Amino acid sequence: MSKKIAPAEGKLGILLVGLGAVSTTFVAGVELVKRGLSVPMGSLTQMGHIRLGKRTEKNSPLVKDFVPLAQLEDLSFAAWDVFEDNAYEAAVKAGVLTPEDLEKIKEPLSQLKPYPAAFDRNYVKKLEGKHIKTGNRREIAQSIIADIEDFKQKSGVSRLVMIWCGSTEVFLKAGPAHQSLSTFEKALDQDDKSIAPSMLYAYAALKQGIPFANGAPNLTVDIPALQELAHETNTPISGKDFKTGQTLMKTILAPGFKARYLGLSGWFSTNILGNRDGEVLDDPENFKTKEESKLGVLDTILQPTLYPELYGNLYHKVRINYYPPRKDNKEGWDNIDLLGWLGYPMQIKVDFLCRDSILAAPLVLDLVLFSDLAKRAGMRGIQEWLSFYYKSPMTAPDLYPEHNLFIQEMKLKNTLRYLMGEEQITHLGIEYYNNFKD
Ligand SMILES: NC(=O)c1ccc[n+]([C@@H]2O[C@H](COP(=O)([O-])OP(=O)(O)OC[C@H]3O[C@@H](n4cnc5c(N)ncnc54)[C@H](O)[C@@H]3O)[C@@H](O)[C@H]2O)c1
Repeated sequence: MSKKIAPAEGKLGILLVGLGAVSTTFVAGVELVKRGLSVPMGSLTQMGHIRLGKRTEKNSPLVKDFVPLAQLEDLSFAAWDVFEDNAYEAAVKAGVLTPEDLEKIKEPLSQLKPYPAAFDRNYVKKLEGKHIKTGNRREIAQSIIADIEDFKQKSGVSRLVMIWCGSTEVFLKAGPAHQSLSTFEKALDQDDKSIAPSMLYAYAALKQGIPFANGAPNLTVDIPALQELAHETNTPISGKDFKTGQTLMKTILAPGFKARYLGLSGWFSTNILGNRDGEVLDDPENFKTKEESKLGVLDTILQPTLYPELYGNLYHKVRINYYPPRKDNKEGWDNIDLLGWLGYPMQIKVDFLCRDSILAAPLVLDLVLFSDLAKRAGMRGIQEWLSFYYKSPMTAPDLYPEHNLFIQEMKLKNTLRYLMGEEQITHLGIEYYNNFKD
C-alpha cells in the first residue's frame, strides 16, 4: 500500500539562506535546465532511475516519474544574505559559471534580491556585511517570518522549503537554551547569544511547518528544541553539511577497503580552495565545525572497535587551506596508507580537481524536492533517508550515522519504494537460481 501523498500542486517556493556560490549555482542551473540549455548532471531526482520489482521485469522508471515531485518549472526562489548583491551579481563574483552561461539567464537571476540577513558576527568572524536585520533574537525571528509572508504574497507559491546555504558558523555545542522548545523560546526573548543566526531561520521555518535542510555543518536543527518544534508542526528536517568533494570520495573509497578487509594506517587529506567559503573556513573556530564534520565519516564506516588490527591505529588528518587563486575550483589531495595481506603496506594517492559548487548545486535541488515530498507524505522530524546528501547525517539520539554512500543510496531508494507501496529490494536474488536440492 502506498502512503497517502498530497499532490505537488501549485508552485514550490525555495527559501535560500545565503546567496553565495552554491545558491547562485543552484538557481542558475535550474534556470538553464528549465530552458533546455543544459543538463542537470549530479541530480538523482532529475537523472536517476529506480528499479522496481525483479530484475527480469526490466522496470526502472525515472525517479521523477515514480514519485510525485515538484517540477523545475514550478520552482520560485527567495533568499537572505548579508550582502545586497542580487543573484546575478553574486554569481558573477562567485565565478563558478562562465559569463556566457550567466548571460543567458541574467534576467531571472537579477530579479532575485536577498532580504536582509539575520547575522551575528560572533558566528562568522570573517564576514562584514551591512545588509542585516536589527533587534533582539525574538524580533529577528519575527522579521524572517514576515519576509517569508512577503515572498508568499508576491510569488503566489503554495508550498515552501528552506535550505541553509549560508556560511559555516563557529563550532557550537548544544547548551541549556537548546534543550527544549520552551527554553529556546525563552532564550529568544532574552536575546541569548547561544542561539545562532541559523537557528533563527530554522525556527521561523519550522514554526510555520516549512521543511528545513542544512547544507553546512552548523548545529542549527540538530538540537532537541527545534526537533520538538519539527514534530509539533509535522515538519521534515535534515542535515548536516553537503557531502561533496573530498568527503564524497572518502565515503566511496572507504567502504570498498572495508569490504575487502584491507587495513589502513593513515589517511591524510588536504585541500586548497579560494572561494568565500574557504575564506570563512580560514578562521580556526569556523574550521573546527567543518573539521568535526569531515573527520567523523571514517570511524563509522571502518568500525575500529570491531576491527582493531585493521583500523585501530588509523591516523586521520584533514586540512583546508585558503588559497585565493583557485577560487571555487578546489583541489583535494588524499594520501591513503593501506595495509594488505600480512600487513604489507601500499599507498593510494587521490588528486581530485573538483568544482565545489558544481558538486553541491544538484544536492540542493534534490534536497528541496525530497523535503517537499516528505512534507506532502506526512513525514516529520529527522529524515535519515536523506543522509545520502550529507557529511554529518542527523540521526535519532541513540543511533550512529550511516556514512557509507552505497548504503545511503539504498536507504534513499528503499524509502521511495516504501512511500509508493513498492517492494523493498534486498539484492538477495536467490529466486533466479535453483540453488537448493528439492
Ligand atoms: N560547495 C560545497 O561543496 C559545500 C559542501 C559542503 C558544505 N558547503 C557549505 O555550504 C555553505 C555555502 O557555501 P558557498 O560556497 O556557497 O559559500 P559562500 O561563502 O559563497 O556563500 C555563503 C553566503 O552566505 C552568506 N551568509 C553568511 N551568513 C549568513 C546569514 N546569517 N544569513 C544570510 N546569509 C549569510 C554569505 O554572505 C555568503 O554570501 C557553506 O557553509 C559551506 O561550508 C558547501
